[in-house]
Amino acid sequence: MQIVFGIDFGTTNSALSVYRNGAVEVVAVDGGEGPEELMRSVLYFSEDNEIYTGSEAIRHYVGDEASGRFMQSIKTFLPNTSFDSTEVFGKRYSIDDLVAIILKRLKECGEAHVGCPVESVVLGRPVVFSTDAAKDAVAQQRLERAARKAGFKNIWFQYEPVAAALAFEESLQPGQERIVFIGDFGGGTSDFSVIRVKGGAFCRSDRRSDVLAMGGVYVAGDKFDSQIMWDKIAHYFGRYARYKTMGKDEWVTFPRSIINTLCQWHRIPMLRGRTTREQIRVIKNSTDDRQALERLENIISDNYGFYLFQAIEKAKCELSRMERTAIEFTERDLLISQELTKDEFETINGGNFQNIAECIDEVIGRSGITPAGMDTVFLTGGTSRIPLIQDLFAQRFGREKLENRDAFTSVVHGLGSSVPLFV
Ligand SMILES: Nc1ncnc2c1ncn2[C@@H]1O[C@H](COP(=O)(O)OP(=O)(O)OP(=O)(O)O)[C@@H](O)[C@H]1O
Ligand SMILES: [Mg+2]
Repeated sequence: MQIVFGIDFGTTNSALSVYRNGAVEVVAVDGGEGPEELMRSVLYFSEDNEIYTGSEAIRHYVGDEASGRFMQSIKTFLPNTSFDSTEVFGKRYSIDDLVAIILKRLKECGEAHVGCPVESVVLGRPVVFSTDAAKDAVAQQRLERAARKAGFKNIWFQYEPVAAALAFEESLQPGQERIVFIGDFGGGTSDFSVIRVKGGAFCRSDRRSDVLAMGGVYVAGDKFDSQIMWDKIAHYFGRYARYKTMGKDEWVTFPRSIINTLCQWHRIPMLRGRTTREQIRVIKNSTDDRQALERLENIISDNYGFYLFQAIEKAKCELSRMERTAIEFTERDLLISQELTKDEFETINGGNFQNIAECIDEVIGRSGITPAGMDTVFLTGGTSRIPLIQDLFAQRFGREKLENRDAFTSVVHGLGSSVPLFV
């Protein structure tokens, strides 16, 4: 009996499915607070050299008062050719080493479930890791190397939205045929595809001719969080601070690049470099907002960006079902209570929604099928819960065509269903 795993290594969440005897099941991979079939794609290296993943990583990070190294959104580094490796407590880890730790953990959960070693896997990949073809290739190679390091010998790739389409296919009656627009809105990327699906037994043939168009943008949940940070929170850390340079009597605005880095929480540790810290120290001595600069120094040295961004993400998710909320956060003498309405959220993210809308239209155009000619719009991924994302599709296709299902597991389920296409 052949057993193959499907792994959805996501920017925010990862999951595992098992294919055996022609059936697919999604397996528990984390016993923490969240849904057991999802593992947060995070790593924590404690000072005594233990490595944790998922909710365990978060628990230790919080418990150790952030003394170790915490990493998240690792997937977004895959296409980044200027990032090759990082040193953690004297040991060097390449990007594929880091990814391999997560894949290995998932593999172990799957093996514990089926009771034997498994060496074959279908890995999901976004339609675009990067718009630069060379970087896109590097990202997939790194992911493949990571899978090898995790102990897999047979490795195949499937596009994430195609996997979502296959999951949708299983809900159709045998023989039923549909043209479906799939939108998968995750943490790092929003991926689209137009695909012809057919109900019935697993289709073993090559499905390439059924994929009518694909596309994607690097705009998803993380970008929305960053934008909230930029517009609603960054002023607490000096976004509008001004300062005077030595010997001159003019006010200069605070360096944008520092605030930019601050708005991508996983990059905040990069501000720890000696030159940047010195730069901030000098500015602090001649600024009109010394308190903000002190907070900036604190967030860098105490590394509480993770918690701040959790508060931001929580508010964002609340706005998917409420008209208004507040971002609440306290740390030492910093007290943030920042109102945020759904309208404001939509306005400040206008550019991000615009980029998504343009990509949707491009994919519709390339498919050669008019919106009226598409039978169903299937939306999945955590970010698809944002009402304005739903509206983008309702405007184009009509609300009655929208289907929302299994926001967090349809991709991993479909990766399992993809197995017969490869083996
Ligand atoms: N109710 C909600 N409203 C808005 N956003 C949400 C909601 N629930 C989850 N999200 C967002 O969804 C994202 C995670 O979704 P998902 O698990 O599908 O991503 P992923 O598969 O890890 O990412 P990717 O597919 O890009 O690699 C996060 O950015 C999270 O903030
Ligand atoms: Mg995903």
